[in-house]
Amino acid sequence: MIVGIIGSGAMGSGIAHVVATAGHQVYLLDKNSKALERASQTIKGGLDKLTAKGKISEARANEIYSQIKLTESHQDFGACELVLEAVVEDLETKQNIFKEVEMIVQEKCILATNTSSLSITSIAAACNKPERFIGIHFFNPAPVMQLVEVIPAVQTRAGLAEDIKQLVQQWGKLPVVAKDTPGFIVNRVARPFYGEAIRILEEGIADVSTIDWAMTELGGFRMGPFTLMDFIGHDVNYRVTETVFASFFYDPRYKPSFTQKRLFEAGYYGRKSGRGFYSYQEGAAQPESNRDEALGKYILNRILAMLINEAADALALNIASKEDLETAMTKGVNYPEGLLAWADDWGLEKVLETLDGLYEEYHEDRYRASVLLRKMVKVNKAFFSA
Ligand SMILES: NC(=O)c1ccc[n+]([C@@H]2O[C@H](COP(=O)([O-])OP(=O)(O)OC[C@H]3O[C@@H](n4cnc5c(N)ncnc54)[C@H](O)[C@@H]3O)[C@@H](O)[C@H]2O)c1
Repeated sequence: MIVGIIGSGAMGSGIAHVVATAGHQVYLLDKNSKALERASQTIKGGLDKLTAKGKISEARANEIYSQIKLTESHQDFGACELVLEAVVEDLETKQNIFKEVEMIVQEKCILATNTSSLSITSIAAACNKPERFIGIHFFNPAPVMQLVEVIPAVQTRAGLAEDIKQLVQQWGKLPVVAKDTPGFIVNRVARPFYGEAIRILEEGIADVSTIDWAMTELGGFRMGPFTLMDFIGHDVNYRVTETVFASFFYDPRYKPSFTQKRLFEAGYYGRKSGRGFYSYQEGAAQPESNRDEALGKYILNRILAMLINEAADALALNIASKEDLETAMTKGVNYPEGLLAWADDWGLEKVLETLDGLYEEYHEDRYRASVLLRKMVKVNKAFFSA
């Protein structure tokens, strides 16, 4: 199979690595020759690391590398069976690209986008043959992260999502299928990990390091929400939050915070700018956390209940299957347990009690419990009953 990849930035170069490793020939296109050079070095560097670790031989690394042809022209895409786009997150740019690409590729060529936050349907709408269009959403870094969300557009032909799932599996990845709704699975369900943590901070219930401690030590998450936001960067994380909020027709559950907006405005992007919620300057003292068990449990339960509520609601609205929701959160953002199984372990009644308690206290719509959760408690059922 010959695969065309458009955009050779962080994602395009990583996807090229994955696809070439799976044995496909790749045309990696960028309008910027410097970006292509960087991509080539990144891919080479990634393969060299694998060789140094003894994971692949030097000959194999060379073989993979030689499968990737760098190009600045769509004209090379004539023989492609799949063209996947990973350029800047801008609807018009993406739509224009596919208009051009469709003039060159064959009828059977599948067209795909790696967009994180745009609707797949809106990009497909620019195509002459939108039935061959689909979302294939990788996570960063693509060679390392196992999860891939496959998102059919409204126009996508029946069966294409299944074909892409199989292809993604051949690439050694774990595909899940998501409905074309804002944030797909991971970027939707994970919102409260950031939003509720910031809310707890804003109310002065605990400071960043105490909240991070509660989530890592008591919750088993790999990184606390503030460490993670600083890692992702507030430029990226704040913009995603804003986009998701607007895309959900301003549902208060996804409301961004002024705390993060101000960090973004100040250019305190996190690790990459040396300052975010924490300081990354050399020798900067890190704040001590207040390891109060009761406070820690309150923080964990509040954030976890909100996360479970998102997962339950995504299930209620058929965004994805139970199994895919669990795979997405454990493999896409490395949660210690799937949220639905976690809810079963905790007890659905307790989850509902926590949410209703918050609703009672705040009278804010953001704390409304999912109808599915309420129904399941009523009939005394678990998400995964034995
Ligand atoms: N970075 C992430 O964590 C991440 C994760 C999943 C999905 N995504 C999505 O993947 C896409 C790419 O993100 P990224 O982080 O790799 O961006 P990036 O800025 O690293 O790379 C984008 C590349 O696209 C090129 N480009 C821009 N316009 C072009 C055009 N018209 N034709 C050809 N090339 C063009 C740029 O020169 C640049 O090299 C976005 O849609 C983003 O939402 C990003």
